[in-house]
Amino acid sequence: MPADGWDPAQYDRFRQERQQPFVDLLALLHPAPGCRAIDLGCGTGELTVALHKHLLAGETIGIDRSAAMLDDSDRWAVEGVWFGQRDIVSFPDPDGSDGHFDVIAANASLQWVHDHHRVLDALTTALRPHGQLAFQVPANFDHPSHAVATDVAAEAPFAGALADAGDPRPAAVLAPEEYAIALYGMGYTDQVVRLQVYGHLLASTEDVVEWVKGTLLTPYRERLDPASYEAFVERYRSRLLGILGDQRPYFYPFKRILCWARRP
Ligand SMILES: C[S@@+](CC[C@H](N)C(=O)[O-])C[C@H]1O[C@@H](n2cnc3c(N)ncnc32)[C@H](O)[C@@H]1O
Repeated sequence: MPADGWDPAQYDRFRQERQQPFVDLLALLHPAPGCRAIDLGCGTGELTVALHKHLLAGETIGIDRSAAMLDDSDRWAVEGVWFGQRDIVSFPDPDGSDGHFDVIAANASLQWVHDHHRVLDALTTALRPHGQLAFQVPANFDHPSHAVATDVAAEAPFAGALADAGDPRPAAVLAPEEYAIALYGMGYTDQVVRLQVYGHLLASTEDVVEWVKGTLLTPYRERLDPASYEAFVERYRSRLLGILGDQRPYFYPFKRILCWARRP
């Protein structure tokens, strides 16, 4: 079983499509010269540096749980940016050792952390007055690309193999208005919350399989032995193509929620 299911090369196969939501999230963040920022689930670190530059930050920390994703992060190194292998769940440290931040950002990562009310509460404790919180999460769980993975996981032999390995599905992402209400309840009167559909023109429906192999299927890769994972992907592929057909090109509509909020 691999140490972690993330593979930067697979993830970057759709680099341009995956970067657009980050660019849109960045546009919501106000530059704050000299600020202290953190990027939760920073991946390869490329976008952490873009965040740092956009904010004109003094210090930006990128954390990610995956050693594979962080492996080459030094190539993006610029002064004031550093990376660490760490689980978002451990942030902020309850003993206060992380200190406080002016900007907390998380692009396409919080969907892997459970209980978003608790997560947002915890992040708020690490944010300075007037600090900005910005995150983007997928909201595409009703699309066959996501629903089929859940269905296949519930079938033999995968259900048995996955039973003791922890739930591989992403955490429950809230509805946009639930994020708005939760953030308001935490004191964020200044906020932007929106649902956006990103239309990706892929070469064919087959490419959806390559897309999810870089993200949604990573926990299945972590939990199944290589042969079972291959069998899982094959059943997923045949089920998905049975539903979507063999379309060339395939227009893949991908819903995402973008949230920006600033503390009073
Ligand atoms: C879809 S990628 C996004 C990476 C980067 N933010 C970007 O936009 O390119 C999700 C990242 O979240 C990381 N991740 C998932 N669960 C995590 C957790 N509990 N703690 C830290 N990182 C996590 C993964 O390792 C992966 O690098």
